Amino acid sequence: MYVVATLRSNPSVEPAHAAEIGRQGAPNPYPARARICHDVRVTELQEPQTQHSRVSARLGAIAESATLAVDAKAKALKAAGRPVIGFGAGEPDFPTPQYIVDAAIAACSDPVNHHYTPAAGLPALREAIAAKTLRDSGYPVSAGQVLVTNGGKQAVYQAFAAVVDLGDEVLLPTPYWTTYPEAIKLAGGIPVDVFAGADAGYLVTVEQLEAARTPRTKALLFCSPSNPTGAVYSPQQTRAIGQWALEHGIWVITDEIYEHLTYDEAVFAPIVGQVPELANTTIVLNGVAKTYAMTGWRVGWMIGPSDVIKAAANLQSHLTSNVANVSQRAALAAVTGDLSAVAEMRTAFDRRRRTMVKMLNEIDGVACPVPTGAFYAYPSVEGVLGRNIRGTTVRTSAELATLILEQVEVAVVPGEAFGPSGFIRLSYALGDADLVEGVARIQGLLGDLEPGR
Ligand SMILES: Cc1ncc(COP(=O)(O)O)c(C=O)c1O
Repeated sequence: MYVVATLRSNPSVEPAHAAEIGRQGAPNPYPARARICHDVRVTELQEPQTQHSRVSARLGAIAESATLAVDAKAKALKAAGRPVIGFGAGEPDFPTPQYIVDAAIAACSDPVNHHYTPAAGLPALREAIAAKTLRDSGYPVSAGQVLVTNGGKQAVYQAFAAVVDLGDEVLLPTPYWTTYPEAIKLAGGIPVDVFAGADAGYLVTVEQLEAARTPRTKALLFCSPSNPTGAVYSPQQTRAIGQWALEHGIWVITDEIYEHLTYDEAVFAPIVGQVPELANTTIVLNGVAKTYAMTGWRVGWMIGPSDVIKAAANLQSHLTSNVANVSQRAALAAVTGDLSAVAEMRTAFDRRRRTMVKMLNEIDGVACPVPTGAFYAYPSVEGVLGRNIRGTTVRTSAELATLILEQVEVAVVPGEAFGPSGFIRLSYALGDADLVEGVARIQGLLGDLEPGR
């Protein structure tokens, strides 16, 4: 049967009638399997509902953010006095640059900032983000195409909400950042994993995407530099994927939050810069968190065609109203300032990256491709699985992560948070000494490997 979900918003249904037919057990005036158009949502159910679960099926299906959970566990152990080293955090270990903090302090003291801002963000900030996009990505956007969100995470959620309908498929290069599948499912979509392993440098090809494409494919999620793998698509690879998406009318949701963190020969190549015709079917996600060490300030944004941005702004106007005014002022100082702070962080991350990858690759059974972006290493631990470690045979990367935490008090995020088992993610956004100590502990533990039994 179908359950009418939002009858009251259907102008063709009288309010009293809507209340009546929306009631449990009331006769359904609509013929079985009839679709109701306009703004009335219908949901197919197996059986008539007789009992409500306490938590809705929609929210009950959401998994906790595994990365935040690992981080919280490590912090709790640390607070309890344990010498835990955490590789779980997805945030720079640097403080926010002082000029940004100063702008926020000044904003706090000015009553003009004690009030709501427009839902889509401070006009000056939207302008500044448009100017920053031209500076960093090389193509023009208008301020009206920018929506300021509560962190990049809200932009992720709203982007899928804006373009995905019930049953639409979204191609998801895998390993993926843990939030994407949940946001796709919340929008009613179906995440379709397209896997590329360590041997492929964690980079999917056009051929793989084409093999996964169906008539229901609505969008592609593209994240370069990648969380969790640190992989970066070359300009040529980015262009090929963009042209393929354009050819098939597939929306691209491109997460560019690590744009300024690339190493060695890798360069960040914005997909709209590579394929300008994609602008009308692309949503860019970004934010200040990683570039300016501002994870706690909660400012991100989405950029897209104005109809999509308008729709997402309408959603946001009901969801969160607007981003905290003072945080927007801080973000304005950040994006109108220079990039010297991120250059300093990049130097430190690069040094730590080399140390970590070298030490990980010294471990028997661990193979870590050299990440060229973001601040994560993503080694394959498949060579460790099935072997005996201090009396325990670990079968999955989740079991391995648990063992590492229990035995040597080091927190890593298991691959299961990002797709298939067989990998662990380690953030190198922590102090050099802790980094060496943490990986040395893992080396010590996995040095005790015995053949499987
Ligand atoms: C790939 C990616 N996108 C978006 C975000 C969201 O960042 P925030 O909500 O802190 O701005 C993160 C944070 O870890 C991320 O790794």
